[in-house]
Amino acid sequence: MSNSFTRNRPLWIAGGLTVAVMVLVFVAGWLFGRADEKHERTREVAARPAQAETALGRTDLRQLDPLRRGVPVDQEAAPQPMWRVQNTDVRRERAYPMQPPTIPHAIDGYQVDKNSNRCMLCHARANAEKFQAPPVSVTHYMDRDDQFLASISARRYFCNQCHVVQTDAPLLVGNTFQDIDRVLAAAEAGTATAPATERTQ
Ligand code: HEC
Ligand code: HEC
Repeated sequence: MSNSFTRNRPLWIAGGLTVAVMVLVFVAGWLFGRADEKHERTREVAARPAQAETALGRTDLRQLDPLRRGVPVDQEAAPQPMWRVQNTDVRRERAYPMQPPTIPHAIDGYQVDKNSNRCMLCHARANAEKFQAPPVSVTHYMDRDDQFLASISARRYFCNQCHVVQTDAPLLVGNTFQDIDRVLAAAEAGTATAPATERTQ
């Protein structure tokens, strides 16, 4: 035994050194990892933004997808109810002049494809009177060079690209948007920085 040790001494020393170095590397890595984790946590706390209040409850702004309503990505959220389409014929105010107006009626089953455009049955200039519908405006007949066409422009053919039905859904994300008329009125009254009233739709 002692004989074989003396004979293989360099081998034993090399083995021992290797094990010692491995242990050292492991301990160093563990200590470094712990320090980094702690640093990460303090940074996270410092960068945490204020919580935002929405109609659906408190949502953390770090949640990139507000539709998840703060439910962690590895958990399944209970689905929201389907919001009702309002079929009331009551037009909503436009938030800015070139906003496509929202549709004040249901559009279930209205076909819009290559062969037919159900919307234009009522909204074409020629049919509007008969159906008491507002005709699409001139912009809907203009091509990209601002030339007027006889029939609806291809750029305005698929109405739902821009117009959406009105629903009773609450705001997903709170906001303080004010239209320009209100901003100007507030500026005139000298209360330009007055807090905006939150709209619900
Ligand atoms: C059966 C006739 C009819 C059809 C089909 C129809 N609409 Fe209407 N639409 C109306 C009438 C009438 C109004 C006026 C408000 C009301 O009475 O609901 C209106 C109002 C609108 C408005 C509001 C305009 C404004 O100035 O506020 C939009 C936008 C609109 N419709 C888009 C559409 C779209 C898009 C489609 C197809 C998916 C469509 N409509 C299909 C009859 C129709
Ligand atoms: C590329 C977006 C876009 C598409 C597609 C589009 N619209 Fe519009 N629409 C608008 C905008 C923007 C307005 C408001 C400003 C204007 O009149 O151009 C508007 C206004 C309207 C109005 C109100 C007109 C008025 O004088 O108040 C009606 C009605 C309407 N659109 C119906 C339709 C119908 C029906 C279609 C499909 C055939 C359609 N729109 C396709 C953007 C679009």
